[in-house]
Amino acid sequence: MKPVRVSKHVLYEASVQDTEVDITLIDRMVARSTGGTAKTLREDFCGTAVLACAWVQSDPERESWGVDLHDPTLKWAEKHRLSELGEDADRVHLLAADVLTVQSPSVNVIAALNFSYMIFEQRDLLKRYFLNVFDHLTPGGVFVLDLFGGPNAQAVMKEKKKVPAGTDFSEAPYPDFTYEWDQADFNAVNQHITCHIHFKGKNIVPIRKAFTYDWRLWSITEITDLLMEVGFISVDPYFEGWCDESGTTDGELKIRKTYKDMLAWICYLGATKAS
Ligand SMILES: C[S@@+](CC[C@H](N)C(=O)[O-])C[C@H]1O[C@@H](n2cnc3c(N)ncnc32)[C@H](O)[C@@H]1O
Repeated sequence: MKPVRVSKHVLYEASVQDTEVDITLIDRMVARSTGGTAKTLREDFCGTAVLACAWVQSDPERESWGVDLHDPTLKWAEKHRLSELGEDADRVHLLAADVLTVQSPSVNVIAALNFSYMIFEQRDLLKRYFLNVFDHLTPGGVFVLDLFGGPNAQAVMKEKKKVPAGTDFSEAPYPDFTYEWDQADFNAVNQHITCHIHFKGKNIVPIRKAFTYDWRLWSITEITDLLMEVGFISVDPYFEGWCDESGTTDGELKIRKTYKDMLAWICYLGATKAS
């Protein structure tokens, strides 16, 4: 088979995004906060806005806003993702704006996933972002964000994952390929981390450094303290458990107050605004 040229956005979504898992978790967090369900969601750092799109598909009364400052990516989202929604697209609004200053309507949920807020490396800047989030949440609203850590997160290393062939959001097929997470540099003095994503495999035209991230590797306590400082009343950490038999995580996201002896972990935080 001749290698196929696949958009880096399609390969990215297939490698790291699972909107069903995200929406299930968001629904649980909102039920915990308000006892009800959320109607409105803002996806910050939305990129291809696939979560904002899946949100409106999950319920005919749901509406979403996607915020990103990169115009070409938003245009791609409009052409390849919103176009798939038919009339549902009327309930997705893309805002070309900086999340630090964006003025969206107030919503029930704001999501900042795949660590994107780590682009803010100074505490003051991150606080400005969290204040914008807080100000745009309705009472009882939930802010969901994720972070990663553990000793392996501070190592210069590469991790590969085989992604099986499948179909994307628009049902277009893509072949199997390899996703490579490349932790290229870590500075213990300021927690600065540089990571790249490469896409490889004999069935696709490879893309080296498809995405590069310069982030600060924030800790759960730093983020929790800052969220409480801007006014959230609680911050719950959700982790998957560990399965010794399979040597992998068990897929069960639960609030865990202790999480010990893990070389690498991903945590989702659900921060709640008072009702
Ligand atoms: C890692 S992608 C996130 C994609 C997707 N939301 C996800 O969960 O995987 C990060 C996106 O954040 C955007 N971005 C970076 N800084 C931003 C800012 N200050 N305001 C809005 N968007 C920003 C970039 O343009 C990029 O599309």
